[in-house]
Amino acid sequence: MKRPVLLLAAALFAAHTFAAQATISVRADNPGHPVSPRLWGVFFEDINLSADGGLYPELVRNRSFEGSDGLRFWTFTSASKAATEAAPTLDESRPLNAFNRHSLQVRPGAAGCVLENPGYWGMNFVAGEACAFRVAARATDDFKGALRVELLDSAGAVIASGELSGFGKDWKQQTLTLTPTKSDPRGKLRLVVPGDASDKGALFLDMISLLPVKTWKGHGLREDLAEAMNALKPAFFRFPGGCWVEGENIARAYQWKTTIGDVASRTQLENIWDYNATQGLGYHEYLQLAEDLGAEPVFCINVGMSHRESVPLDRMGAWVQDALDAIEYANGPVDSVWGSLRAKNGHPAPFNLRILEIGNENGGPDYAARWPLFVKAIKAKHPEITLIANLWFNKYPKDPMPEMVDEHYYDAPEGLMRRATLYDGYDRKGPKIFVGEYAVTKRAGLGNLRGAIGEAAFMTGLERNSDIVMMAAYAPLFTNVHHRAWSPDLINFDSAGWYGLPSYQVQQLFSHNTGDTTLPVEVQSAELPVEDPRGRVGVGTWNTQAEFKDLKVTAPDGKVLFASDFAGKGTEGWTFLGGGEWSVKDGVLRQTAEKQKLRALIGDPSWKDYTIELKARKLTGREGFMVLFHNKHDEDRTAWNLGGWDNKYDAVLLADSDERKDGSIETGRWYDLRVQLDGDQVRCWLDGKLVHDFRRPHLTVRTIYASATRDTATGEIILKVVNTAAGPTETTINLEGVAQPSGPARATVLTSEKPDDENSLAEPRKIAPHTEELTLTGPRFTRSFPGNSLTILRIPTTK
Ligand code: AHR
Repeated sequence: MKRPVLLLAAALFAAHTFAAQATISVRADNPGHPVSPRLWGVFFEDINLSADGGLYPELVRNRSFEGSDGLRFWTFTSASKAATEAAPTLDESRPLNAFNRHSLQVRPGAAGCVLENPGYWGMNFVAGEACAFRVAARATDDFKGALRVELLDSAGAVIASGELSGFGKDWKQQTLTLTPTKSDPRGKLRLVVPGDASDKGALFLDMISLLPVKTWKGHGLREDLAEAMNALKPAFFRFPGGCWVEGENIARAYQWKTTIGDVASRTQLENIWDYNATQGLGYHEYLQLAEDLGAEPVFCINVGMSHRESVPLDRMGAWVQDALDAIEYANGPVDSVWGSLRAKNGHPAPFNLRILEIGNENGGPDYAARWPLFVKAIKAKHPEITLIANLWFNKYPKDPMPEMVDEHYYDAPEGLMRRATLYDGYDRKGPKIFVGEYAVTKRAGLGNLRGAIGEAAFMTGLERNSDIVMMAAYAPLFTNVHHRAWSPDLINFDSAGWYGLPSYQVQQLFSHNTGDTTLPVEVQSAELPVEDPRGRVGVGTWNTQAEFKDLKVTAPDGKVLFASDFAGKGTEGWTFLGGGEWSVKDGVLRQTAEKQKLRALIGDPSWKDYTIELKARKLTGREGFMVLFHNKHDEDRTAWNLGGWDNKYDAVLLADSDERKDGSIETGRWYDLRVQLDGDQVRCWLDGKLVHDFRRPHLTVRTIYASATRDTATGEIILKVVNTAAGPTETTINLEGVAQPSGPARATVLTSEKPDDENSLAEPRKIAPHTEELTLTGPRFTRSFPGNSLTILRIPTTK
């Protein structure tokens, strides 16, 4: 049921100089439903180098020379001024094993050879903290030399060293413990194979690994990053993706069986987020991490669908069996096939996997056909396992009806604020909800305060509705600051340190102040208009090559704002986003890379009403093309998408609403396109035919969003208040059914001077909460909530 809202003059409250007003009534005398005990968790995806070079603390980048890594990230020089006999090469003649087919062949000759690896933008060495060096090595009979292993500081000085020798003709693991004498976050590993004129032999190296000996709870993960997760007190842990589960094609989809056991025998996999994944953080380690966090593991398994392909139905048996085996690996007795492997890998006790998500962001007929295969097989054997289905384009499979559905929301701050009431009206008889991924991803820089406030507002709605929303997680969790394939991300790290976004503080404030029973809340506050959409025009493609010509943008008074025949000035003044291969020839703008999200923009960010006319033609690829409009910020993607979703749909995508119809684009045919933006009216013509004609909804957000719970153990009322206005909001709070607060209250406030303030490695706590004690005069009191703030009030009442 929607809460009543008092509509006041928005303009008055939008102004910075006036304090807005609001009232919040908390029905402490009429408690609601219990708060879901698993409400706040984390979602870990192997994205942004969050596993390799992050949580999985391998210091060597490219330890095994597989896949696209080849010889990348290594440099080779000679030990003396003379040249080495031959530069090191990849060798495939005698692989270490079936999964590790390439090794490094070093022929030092007289000059010797020096190999260096900088890790992931520097190796973090800490004085006195040991690192374990491991290598698999073999040599030809005539190799007489040794291997010197050195840790270098950023200036190149040796801060630890050791030597290995006695290499035989068969592969053998050799180890060294190296303890740096100095701390340096930008260190390197150097391997020296000294030269010898009489030495004609070759040394072969593989799995060259350097790991810190001290890891989180002794289970092999980087301590500070694991602790950063732990500090969120996550109630569940979803892994390992995301799109990473799907892969671009089936060959690159996540397969848990290739990620367990000896790290040298795991299959490296080309990650969809642009790197080769070692899988050092494998299925077993994920389950162990969940256990160490005290969090419920939620394994998201591939459903036989990748971004581009689906496994034929008659071959789905193996995929369903993988799911059954994953459950047996996690929970099965030690004498079962997979349970015994778990025990062999160091965990005889079951991991208690109770929740499995079938697929990630999958939908359509292919998903509807594969979902029942998993449900039937798993429920027949494991009725105790909760299975989560995907929601995609507002649809989920209904046969069989899922117990829980995973919804994902990425939007601008106001988009998430507006969704704070989404679940108030949800069907209580339908499936439970898992908000498996959400974040403010637009207009939030690298993750600023305003973005965090948008998420906080949304989270009040999740908490109020936690009779139906059982679990929710921000996404994604981690990024290496040097590889932001997706942004923003909750925890940003480099080789030695990390900082949390203001969103991290929001997550922590909610999870540390959950309470156990909801208290109904009524909020009366002003509605603030969301800024009218404005912005540049452009064209775009998605996995498709296309051409565009005769572009003209006209104002309502007929004035031509921009026109190009793509001759003369070519692409001068255009902004190209997402890469791509853009060129201009014979009066045509051409894009020839078959990648996602490629956009070319021109014009003024302040343009509001205009008509765009152009011609477009698809050359080849999976989809059609896009006409972009109202793209004020680079991350805005307001567009008319023709032939989207594998050339099946024709959609107008606005900030807060979409209109989608069936529609496809023919290859090689020039189409006439026209988009008219006139106030709230959006019209699109294809070859002169009006195909979209609708009014954009007028958007507003509330000034105040709130939720309240009781912590039965302490007797406190926990009131969370989000002020989305730019300035303070004077708020009267009424605790109904409370005679008198029984002691001083605590207010924890998260805010900052400017909405676009961000934390950084240099200023990790620029935006951090502060706590103050309050003496309340009675159950009715007033408080001024600062602009763009989240406040947690903990008010003691008699138990
Ligand atoms: O969280 C980043 C990505 O967003 C996930 O991989 C995917 O599930 C979603 O599209």
